[in-house]
Amino acid sequence: MAIRKVGVIGAGLMGHGIAQVAAQGGCDVVVCETQQGFLDKGLERIDKSLAKLAEKAKEKGQAFDAAAVRARIRGTLAKTDLADCDLVVEAIVEDLDVKKKLFAELGAIVKKDGIFASNTSSFPIAEMAAVSGRADRFVGLHFFNPVQLMKLVEVVRTDKTNEDVVAQARAFGEACGKSPITCKDTPGFVVNRLLVPYMADAMKLAERGDASIPDIDTAMKLGCGYPMGPFELTDYVGLDTTLSILEGWVKRYPNEPAFQIPKLLSGLVKEGKLGRKSGQGFYTWQGDKRV
Ligand code: 3HC
Repeated sequence: MAIRKVGVIGAGLMGHGIAQVAAQGGCDVVVCETQQGFLDKGLERIDKSLAKLAEKAKEKGQAFDAAAVRARIRGTLAKTDLADCDLVVEAIVEDLDVKKKLFAELGAIVKKDGIFASNTSSFPIAEMAAVSGRADRFVGLHFFNPVQLMKLVEVVRTDKTNEDVVAQARAFGEACGKSPITCKDTPGFVVNRLLVPYMADAMKLAERGDASIPDIDTAMKLGCGYPMGPFELTDYVGLDTTLSILEGWVKRYPNEPAFQIPKLLSGLVKEGKLGRKSGQGFYTWQGDKRV
């Protein structure tokens, strides 16, 4: 079975991007939100991103039919509109109980051979799969921010995931223009298991006063060729998101030193400084640009 119709639940930072790349890959996409305002904002982000990609393609003399991509995406507030989807990707708030409740509900709505996927950054895929009623047709599909530009998708298999479902999820990732990698259902999968402790370590380095925040960023950009330093990247990902990943891990693995939460991070989140999305994190932001 090829994946032709895709449901995306959540039109936020990740969800709108996943919906867009799925439509760019030729799928019909239904994006589901809980409120009209959230849906409108997500669709607006898609419009802006498509306009940017069309502008870039024109500069390069390449064809890019933004209108055709957009026509494949429709929004809804009703989960029942996902009933005939071949694949449903969840990209809602990082709260395991809320995600489990959603998958239990979707299990009764979506056709039995539909595949379920979660874009969670760090929660165990197996726990969501267990309540979905279709653990054998459940994978993690972890995209990276900004979804439209980042070329990776992690396909996470549990002990129960059917091999054919892994193959279909990889093929879907490729259709979205990504290079899929396959990994086991371990904390943070591959990227976040390496990236988030690195970001936390950078914060601990700054807390000790070993170097300033801009100097640490410059060091990692120029010394390692990373496109963003660890603080700029944490602002980009969201301080609240980074904190919630670490909190989830600390709860499960309290003795793992790599997962300990820097005070700098929890302090800024408490002050509402969440990074780019709130205009202030380690740096000050105006829209997408650092000031
Ligand atoms: N859609 C379309 N175009 C976009 C876009 C989007 N969503 N986002 C940015 N662009 C455009 C920009 O407008 C810009 O256009 P311009 O050249 O006309 O100004 C162009 O793409 C390039 O953007 P930048 O000028 O900002 O240039 P960069 O070369 O710095 O690229 C970047 C931006 C790709 C974000 C790069 O800085 C980068 O790779 N950063 C690291 C990102 C990263 O590591 N992401 C992973 C985070 S971890 C994660 O997501 C996991 C989660 O679970 C926590």
